Amino acid sequence: MSEIREAVRSRYASVAKQLSVIPLQVAEPSAGCCQADGPDCGCSGSYSADELKAIGLSESVSLGCGNPTMLAQLEPGQVVLDLGSGAGLDVLLSARRVAPGGHAYGVDMTDEMLALANANRERAGVANATFLKGSIESIPLPDASVDVVISNCVINLAEDKEAVIAEAFRVLRPGGLFAVADMVELEPLDPGIKARLDTWAGCLSGTIPIDRYRTALVNAGFQDPDFNVHATESMPDVDGKIGSAYIRARKPGRA
Ligand SMILES: C[S@@+](CC[C@H](N)C(=O)[O-])C[C@H]1O[C@@H](n2cnc3c(N)ncnc32)[C@H](O)[C@@H]1O
Repeated sequence: MSEIREAVRSRYASVAKQLSVIPLQVAEPSAGCCQADGPDCGCSGSYSADELKAIGLSESVSLGCGNPTMLAQLEPGQVVLDLGSGAGLDVLLSARRVAPGGHAYGVDMTDEMLALANANRERAGVANATFLKGSIESIPLPDASVDVVISNCVINLAEDKEAVIAEAFRVLRPGGLFAVADMVELEPLDPGIKARLDTWAGCLSGTIPIDRYRTALVNAGFQDPDFNVHATESMPDVDGKIGSAYIRARKPGRA
């Protein structure tokens, strides 16, 4: 395993252990995106209290930078895949929306996160969700088997973003949707920060500019990539240079 991948895996293994001891439900979703005072991917938002209540989870289990389930009109019978599913929040919410007849998959490389996600699934009583161990650069699902690929603050963590995007394209059916929340580089970061493993694992150093993201999507075969930067990071050293973006693109063909 590379140094970067091990830094990411070990960070999220220890985050999973911390998350497994926090209360499962809070009355209101927490507010504020990207206000973390240390390198962290914890800047979610926009989850409805009713949806959270239905699966018995607090928004505090989200380590994302948005809510990708808002980006897609999920329908009963569809298959959804979440790249880097963490504690499983987006998978469980999607599973409810594609029932009956649909299924939500999450892929994650970190055993501790998979264990937490499976515990959350059992507690929520969601039958149509499956968490798979694997790398998002080599997704353990067949070609053209998924209607919607979602992801929340994970692709920036991958060493080979182009491979992840090509894999997302491979598993999508014709007409399928790529609907992702991710951190992007808005201005070049200081090389000292770029070189650090902790800031890579904290969703800062691994970010790429929107132009490179767009090119990767187009080269993979996606149509009409669309980027909406909805928040900027305010931490010292990266202030205004990193943004949280909603990214959508479509695989050509008829659904
Ligand atoms: C920032 S957390 C986000 C988790 C979840 N998407 C959320 O919104 O709460 C990143 C997650 O992606 C997983 N991950 C990071 N890189 C990965 C890779 N290359 N392949 C598979 N999983 C990966 C980590 O184990 C971790 O659970």
